[in-house]
Amino acid sequence: MAEHDEHSSFIKTPQQLITVVLLAFVVPIFGIVMLVQLVVNKPHADPAALSPEAVAARIAPVGKVEFGAAGAGAGAAKSGEDIVKEVCGTCHVPGVANAPKLGDKAAWAPRLKAGLNGLLQSVVKGKGAMPARAGTSLTDEELSKAIVFMANQAGGNLKEPAPAKK
Ligand code: HEC
Repeated sequence: MAEHDEHSSFIKTPQQLITVVLLAFVVPIFGIVMLVQLVVNKPHADPAALSPEAVAARIAPVGKVEFGAAGAGAGAAKSGEDIVKEVCGTCHVPGVANAPKLGDKAAWAPRLKAGLNGLLQSVVKGKGAMPARAGTSLTDEELSKAIVFMANQAGGNLKEPAPAKK
């Protein structure tokens, strides 16, 4: 022990040595255990928040114009009246840009002569200020129902086409 420099070491007894050796093991292991706990128990973001629906809802545009949403729900077919009220009425009730008004017999009489097919062609292709398909993605069948409703409001006597076979 003579060559041992006692001034440079704070370990002076075997008990101290044992304590230091034990601490040298225990402290890092304790630290590792704490780290593992931290990683394993880290609060995760709600997994439901990453579902495609939730993501789509979050990144959805602020507003959307649904012209012709009538065609969306398959099976839940809308009546001509619904379509006219929701879509066509935008122009045909106030008579925007010379659109023949709902129930205006004088405005509709000459147009009724074209018959349902003729009128459908006008709507499908667009006429005057009315865009093709009246700016909707409605099917021919839905457009026809709307035309029949509108025409018959103005004294027409059109029949709704038979529903397309599914
Ligand atoms: C953006 C406004 C607008 C919307 C929406 C609109 N229309 Fe029209 N529509 C017009 C205008 C304007 C005319 C007159 C066109 C002309 O004769 O120059 C017209 C004319 C018509 C005619 C007569 C066509 C003819 O040959 O004379 C029919 C039928 C018709 N619309 C049906 C519809 C139906 C059905 C819808 C809904 C699905 C609809 N419109 C939605 C503006 C609109």
